[in-house]
Amino acid sequence: MTDRPRNVAVIGAQWGDEGKGKIVDLLCEDFDVVARYQGGHNAGHTVKFADKHFALRLIPSGIIHPQKLCLLGNGMVIDPEALLEEIANLRAAGVVIEENLLISDSAHCILPYHKALDLAREEAAGTAKIGTTGRGIGPAYESKAGRYGIRIADLLDPDVLRQKIEFTCAERNAVLRDVYKRDTFDPKKLYDDYLRFAEQLAPRIINGTVWINEQIRAGKRVMFEGAQGMMLDIDHGTYPFVTSSNTVVGGVCTGLGVAPKHIHEVIGVAKAYTTRVGGGAFPTELNDAMGEHLRKRGNEFGTVTGRPRRTGWLDLAVLRTASTINGLDAIALTKLDVLDEFEEIRICTAYKVHGKTWNTFPAFAVAHHDYQPEYKTFKGWKSSTAGMTTFEELPAEAKDYVRFIEDETETRVTIISTGPRREETILRRS
Ligand code: GDP
Ligand code: IMO
Ligand code: MG
Repeated sequence: MTDRPRNVAVIGAQWGDEGKGKIVDLLCEDFDVVARYQGGHNAGHTVKFADKHFALRLIPSGIIHPQKLCLLGNGMVIDPEALLEEIANLRAAGVVIEENLLISDSAHCILPYHKALDLAREEAAGTAKIGTTGRGIGPAYESKAGRYGIRIADLLDPDVLRQKIEFTCAERNAVLRDVYKRDTFDPKKLYDDYLRFAEQLAPRIINGTVWINEQIRAGKRVMFEGAQGMMLDIDHGTYPFVTSSNTVVGGVCTGLGVAPKHIHEVIGVAKAYTTRVGGGAFPTELNDAMGEHLRKRGNEFGTVTGRPRRTGWLDLAVLRTASTINGLDAIALTKLDVLDEFEEIRICTAYKVHGKTWNTFPAFAVAHHDYQPEYKTFKGWKSSTAGMTTFEELPAEAKDYVRFIEDETETRVTIISTGPRREETILRRS
């Protein structure tokens, strides 16, 4: 038995793509189970080591490690076809996927009409569009909240599946046809397709809540892998420019059926600067050569959609909000190396909105985009930190940068990432 916290949640502390995949992969050696609790294949988590490169969407990043058991929790929305494709791709890359991948029977299914509705709505919204990943995530969570969603368990009961598909397809078809002038779906074909997917997925489908609690009772160590980021949370993010699930740590309880007392540590993953994909407020955004430099050097292009990510300075109002809502025990600061070439680096310490100063994210101001960020300017270190593995090696300016973040968020930075690979990491705690 070690004195480390047994179960740890790794969550995004900004707008997603913070490097959660890398951190989960790095830490999961010490864990037995890796579980996702929300989201779907809108996520794109990158894992790199040596000459290997994997992009995970639905499957927890722990799958790369043989012996780790991976669960897709009830809080997720799963496109069975996308899942089967991901399994096939990972197997082709040499990853073993057998009894180590399990799916909660209470997770919800994404159907093709969800995706069609997502795309149709985005197009109809014009400039007010959210900039979704177009995977049907929002409409699938709507079906869930509307209580007519199709759950994974329904795939195992052909009569129930047929009835549910007939009912929901008729209704969604009417919206697609009459509101959006789009093609409709044949329920018979959907039924046949989903029955086929069900056959292939059936051996993995379990009661995820019972299973994960058995693991916890048996003393197994569980890592909870968040998708997206805290600012994309449906309740706490920059609504309506958010995803449709609870990305915050509270989502672990509802999205897996795990009691709060079983979450022993929460690690917030944050980039050393900020990015976001899609629309919505971004107070520290840089629409200039410096923003372009961050995008190029940080390779800031979406893992799922390939879209260029918006880039900007680190925002402490965001991190303080993430720290409070998630009770962060530690921060994993990623992509420090991307800042290596700047003469000066800025950190936003607060915003002025209509004359009032905010040092956490003000929900009411989201729609106005009227932020005046207050910055502290740091001298750049102008030398390579790429691949460094000890804190002592870092240039003094980089150390100051990290310490300032710790002071302002009152949270320790225990991991510093200095490159995309597993081995390019500074661990500041044994
Ligand atoms: P996630 O969605 O939070 O898992 O993050 P993504 O995988 O979508 O995006 C993070 C990107 O940054 C990936 O391409 C990673 O390989 C890369 N990355 C992660 N950490 C570092 C780092 O410390 N330095 C650099 N240069 N790249 C990193
Ligand atoms: P990972 O897990 C970054 C964004 C989309 C859009 C909004 C809603 O890789 O960090 P959705 O398709 O979920 O309805 O889109 O959320 N978004 C992400 N941005 N990283 C992600 O995942 C994201 N998943 C969704 O760009 O703005
Ligand atoms: Mg990503």
